[in-house]
Amino acid sequence: MTYHAIAIDGPAASGKSTLAHALAERLGLVMVNSGAMYRAVTWKILREEIDPADIAAVIRLLDGMDIHCGQDGCVSTIRIDGTDPTPFLREPEINANVSTVSAIPQVRDRLVALQRDYLKRTHVVMEGRDIGSVVFPHTPFKIYIDADPAVRDERRSGDGEIDSVSQRDAADSSRKTAPLKVADGASKIDTSSLTIGGVIEAAIEILSKQGFPLPRHLPDEEPPTPMRWIYWLGWMSFGAAYRTLFGLRIEGAENLIRSGPVLVASNHQSYLDPPLIGNLYKTEMVFFARKSLFKGFGKWLYPQWNAIPIDQEKPDMSSMKTVIRNLKEGWRVLVFPEGQRTLDGSINEAAPGIGMIAAKAGVPIQPVRIYGADKALPRGSGKVSLARITVKVGPPILLSPEEFKAYSNKEGYLALTERIMSAIKAL
Ligand code: DC
Repeated sequence: MTYHAIAIDGPAASGKSTLAHALAERLGLVMVNSGAMYRAVTWKILREEIDPADIAAVIRLLDGMDIHCGQDGCVSTIRIDGTDPTPFLREPEINANVSTVSAIPQVRDRLVALQRDYLKRTHVVMEGRDIGSVVFPHTPFKIYIDADPAVRDERRSGDGEIDSVSQRDAADSSRKTAPLKVADGASKIDTSSLTIGGVIEAAIEILSKQGFPLPRHLPDEEPPTPMRWIYWLGWMSFGAAYRTLFGLRIEGAENLIRSGPVLVASNHQSYLDPPLIGNLYKTEMVFFARKSLFKGFGKWLYPQWNAIPIDQEKPDMSSMKTVIRNLKEGWRVLVFPEGQRTLDGSINEAAPGIGMIAAKAGVPIQPVRIYGADKALPRGSGKVSLARITVKVGPPILLSPEEFKAYSNKEGYLALTERIMSAIKAL
């Protein structure tokens, strides 16, 4: 799977972290704060009482240093020799020494390699000084943000921090290796007089022009629209029951795209599955349900829960069309590519329908894999057991309009179906 990198560069206190964090949450990416990595190494050097200007000593220490970069939710984490230095990273001595440390080429080589490693696992929005120029020079998605020095100084002291922003900027911009500069192809945002919302809006517009496969509708404000009471009633009851009976565990929630249209593609194990997926989100979504359920009370209830009737016996073009329309209108829709529930827990062959829906709708695809629901309520048994259920959410498949176009024929539908199924199987 190819992952996308959004590079955000700019001087200290320009608003990079705030923007990167907001984009990560909205788009289902992992936010990597590369400055924290330089700060963490600086923390270790100072803790070992090594002079940051003594390059030979710094390199010796670096050689034996275990640097572990991970993620917690949608945010990057760092451990140095097993310790998480995050609480100390904004102390005045770190602010005063980090530019010296980050000018050492060997430090940069080591950290740049770790920064690039993230892209092997997930989509990233990375912020720093050289992300668009050195770390990911080939990414088309580059933003450079800046603000008046006076505004930036004020922001830092407003945070209660002692930091000579202008001194750090001068050092970061004039160093030989990977200086702070506007990368080729980057678009600029001046954040001096913008609100956070304004900066995010400007960034979304730039990313859209640069061809980033954005969800079509982004909410104007958090939190998203509340649920209608009847949907909430189902959502809440099923959620509570699943947590109590099946110890429901969710892995990879940071990968969820929480707003705008998303085609959620999951394996299918049991009747428990649709509310299980519905519970990943705090806003309403659209489901499929067997035509035969829309009788009596079900005829009223299922539409309230946004269920679209589907005929499982024969290919049902009208339901497909409804799903595509829903996605184009901005809804999140759950589709089980296999169509049928599994008999033995394994993933069955997919019908090509999902590839067609995905290609025609042109929205992000969120692969999800359910484990344990086949034990909790096996197909054909009707008996509930207290088996543990785990839901794993994978990084979204984000395609550009050109890629969607390339998938828009019969072979394309099959290829996209395969791609979605491999993403589910990989979880
Ligand atoms: O973003 P920040 O202010 O936390 O970064 C701290 C320092 O780390 C910054 O003054 C220079 C260095 N840095 C760097 O050299 N390259 C990066 N990509 C990110 C930060």
